[in-house]
Amino acid sequence: MKFKYIFCIAMLLSLTAHAQQKKAVSIHDQKMNKFIDGLLLKMTLEEKIGQLNLLTGGEATTGSVVSTGVEDKIRKGQVGGIFSLTTPARIRKVQEIAVTQTRLKIPMIFGQDVIHGYKTTFPIPLGMSCTWDIDLIQKTARVAAIEASADGLNWTFSPMVDISRDPRWGRISEGSGEDTYLGSQIAMAMVKGYQGDDLSKNNTIMACVKHFALYGAAEAGRDYNTTDMSLNRMYNEYLPPYKAAIEAGAGSVMTSFNDINGVPATANKWLMTDLLRKQWGFKGFVVTDYTAINELIDHGLGDLQKVSALSLNAGVDMDMVGEGFLSTLKKSVQQGKVKTTQIDQACRLILEAKYKLGLFEDPFRYCNEERAKTEILKPEHLQLAREAAGQSFVLLKNEGNVLPLRKTGTIALIGPLSNTGTNMPGTWSVNSDLANTVSLLDGMKAALGSQVKILHSFGANLMADEEYQKRATMFGRDIPRDSRSEEDIIKEAVDIAKKSDVVVAALGESSEMTGESSSRTNLDIPETQKRLLEALLKTGKPVVLVLFSGRPLTLSWEAQNVPAILNVWFGGTETAKAVTDVLFGDVNPSGKLTTTFPKNVGQIPLYYSHKNTGRPLVAGQWFSKFRSNYLDVDNDPLYPFGYGLSYTTFAYSDLKMSNTSFKKGGSVTASIVVKNTGSREGREIVQLYVQDLVGTETRPVKELKGFQKIRLLPGEQKTVTFKISSDDLRFYNAALKYDSELGDFKIFIGGNSMDVMESSFKLKN
Ligand code: BGC
Repeated sequence: MKFKYIFCIAMLLSLTAHAQQKKAVSIHDQKMNKFIDGLLLKMTLEEKIGQLNLLTGGEATTGSVVSTGVEDKIRKGQVGGIFSLTTPARIRKVQEIAVTQTRLKIPMIFGQDVIHGYKTTFPIPLGMSCTWDIDLIQKTARVAAIEASADGLNWTFSPMVDISRDPRWGRISEGSGEDTYLGSQIAMAMVKGYQGDDLSKNNTIMACVKHFALYGAAEAGRDYNTTDMSLNRMYNEYLPPYKAAIEAGAGSVMTSFNDINGVPATANKWLMTDLLRKQWGFKGFVVTDYTAINELIDHGLGDLQKVSALSLNAGVDMDMVGEGFLSTLKKSVQQGKVKTTQIDQACRLILEAKYKLGLFEDPFRYCNEERAKTEILKPEHLQLAREAAGQSFVLLKNEGNVLPLRKTGTIALIGPLSNTGTNMPGTWSVNSDLANTVSLLDGMKAALGSQVKILHSFGANLMADEEYQKRATMFGRDIPRDSRSEEDIIKEAVDIAKKSDVVVAALGESSEMTGESSSRTNLDIPETQKRLLEALLKTGKPVVLVLFSGRPLTLSWEAQNVPAILNVWFGGTETAKAVTDVLFGDVNPSGKLTTTFPKNVGQIPLYYSHKNTGRPLVAGQWFSKFRSNYLDVDNDPLYPFGYGLSYTTFAYSDLKMSNTSFKKGGSVTASIVVKNTGSREGREIVQLYVQDLVGTETRPVKELKGFQKIRLLPGEQKTVTFKISSDDLRFYNAALKYDSELGDFKIFIGGNSMDVMESSFKLKN
C-alpha cells in the first residue's frame, strides 16, 4: 500500500516535470518564433535570398567552382554562411563584416566537412563502423565537435549515412557499410555526439545528414551516377539511417548529387517535402551538395533560373556555392515562378538554425582563441584516436598464428604505404594534423626502440602505375616517386626480407584512391604491388600484409597465399601507434567487417541480407544448373559481413529461446553462451540475425537485429541475451505500412553473418 502511494507520487512528480519541460521547450520556441517573425518583417526580399546563399571561404573545395568576391557579397547581405574557413581569428574577421557592416547584422554560420574527427583524426567512417562500438563512435563525434568548435566552426557536413553495397564506389569509405540496422545506430550516435544536448553550447556543432538520398546506390559504383530503386528497397534498406539521424535531432540535411527514379535529389519534391518533412517531420533546413543546383542543368532539367526555382520549390533552403538562388530567385518571384512564402520559409529555417546555435546572442560564440589553443589535439583525444583505430582494424587471416609478432629479432618493413604519414588519416581529413601524423616506419621505431631491428624498403613507385597514381592525387597526398626501376625496388625489398625473421608488407590503396570521385572497376591490390608481394612470398619468410584500404578489395589470391592479413583501413592520426599495438599484441584485434568482401568484382553487389530468389542454391553448393549462381565463381563472399578474427578464439553454444512463439506486442528472448577458448583476453562482437520466412513481400535471408560487444578473459564464458519484440520484426509492406506479419521466423546468432547457430519462433495473433 505504502509502495503504491510512493509510486503514485513519483509518477505525478515526473508527469509534472515532463509537462514543465514541454512548456519550457515551447516557451523557448515561442521566443525564437517571435524573434524571427520580427526579423523577417524587417528583411527585404534580397536579404532573405542572401540568407539562402552558402559560399566557400577558401581551403578545401570539392568542385571546380570557388566563390569569389566573398567579402563584398557579405557586406551586401548576400551570404548566409561560409564553409571551409577555419580558425577563430579568420572566422571572427568575416563574421565581423556580417554583424557590423550589413543592414540587419545577421550572423553567418560556419561549416566544414568534419567527417571523422578534426585535427585529431579518427579512422575513416567505414573503419569506425567496424568497431561496432556505438559509445566509442559517439565519443569520437563529440571530440570532433569540441575541436571543430574550438577552431571557430559551428556546423559539420556529417554524418554521411549512405548505405552502400558497391565497393567500386570510392565513397563507400565515408559511410558505415552495407547494413541498415547498424548504419542507423551509428547515424544516431554521430548526431548526438556532434550536437550534444544543447546546440547553443560553444562546444557543440550542428550535424548535417547526407547525402539525401540513395547516393550510395549509384549505378555501377560510378560516382555521381543515377540511382533507380524500388520503394520496397528504399524504405526497408536505404532510407532508415537518414530517418534515424533526423529522429536523433539532426539540424540539417544535405541533398545528394544523384538522380532518383528520374528526378535528381536536389529537385525532388517528393523526397524533400513529402518524405522528409511531411512523413518524417523534419524541422531543420536543407542545403544542397556542392553546386548541385547548377548541376541540374546537366541533368537536363533546364537553365539556371528554372532549376533554381525547381530546387527551392522542391524544398531546398540553402544553395551551396552555385549562387543560382542568389542570381535568379528575385526574377522568378517577379515572374510568379516562385512564391515569396517559399523564400520566407527557407529563410526562416536558416535563421532558426542560427538562433539555436546561439549566434544571435553572441555571433563570436565559437571564436575563442584560448579554446583553440587548449582544446585541440589534447592527449586524451589522441588516446581515443589510438583506441578507435586499434578497434577498427579487421584481422582477415592469421594462419599458423603468425601474429602477434614477438618484440625481438629483425623485421623487414616494406611497401609504398610503410613510410607516408600523410596517407594515414584517409579521405576527408582536410583539417588533420598532418605535421604530427607519423608513418608506420617512424611509429614502429618510436614504439619498439632497440628491442626489434627494423630493416626498411619503401618503393613509392610501386603504389600504382604512374598515370593511375597521378589521377589519384586530389588533395596532393600522393606518395612521391623516385627514379628507381621496379626491378631495383623489388630487389632491395627481397634482399632485406631475406635478412629478417618476418616481413611486414604495408600495401593497398593510397588514401586518394578512395573517397569522392575515386571509383574503381578493378579492386585488386595494384599490379605493381602484387608483384612486390609475390617476390616477398618467394623468400619463404612469413609475410604479414598490413592492408590499407577505403573499401573491400578483391583478395582471393592474397587469401590463398599470404599467411596473415590485417586490414587497417585508414586509421587516422594515430594509425602508426595503433598498427604497432595490434601487430605486437598489445591490443587484440576485434574489428568485424561491416561490408562484404567479394571474391571478384563480378559478384558485386554482394551483401549478406540479399533475397532468396525462386531458385536459391542449397547452402554450400556450387554449381547447379538452372539455379541462381555463376559458372565461374560461387555465390559466397571471400569474407562475409560481420567477419573478423582475434588472437584468441570464441566458441558459441547453448542457443536457447525463452519461448517458441509470442504474440504481437510481446517479445521473446534468445540467449547463447560465448566462451573464450584461447589464451588471451579478447573482445567478441556477438551478432543476432532474423529471417522472416513468409511475408506478403519477399524478405531478406538474414537481417541484423542486434549485437553486443563483450570482453572475455581466457577460459571465461558469458551468456549473451537478446530480446526480440514484434516491433523489431516490422518492415514496410507494398502499401508502405510499417508492421510485422504473423508467421514463422528463424533467428541466427554468431560471430559473423555466416557462422551462426540457429533457432526459430512463431509470431502469433
Ligand atoms: C561532397 C560533400 C561535401 C561537400 C562540401 C561535396 O563534393 O559530396 O560530401 O560535404 O562537397 O565539401
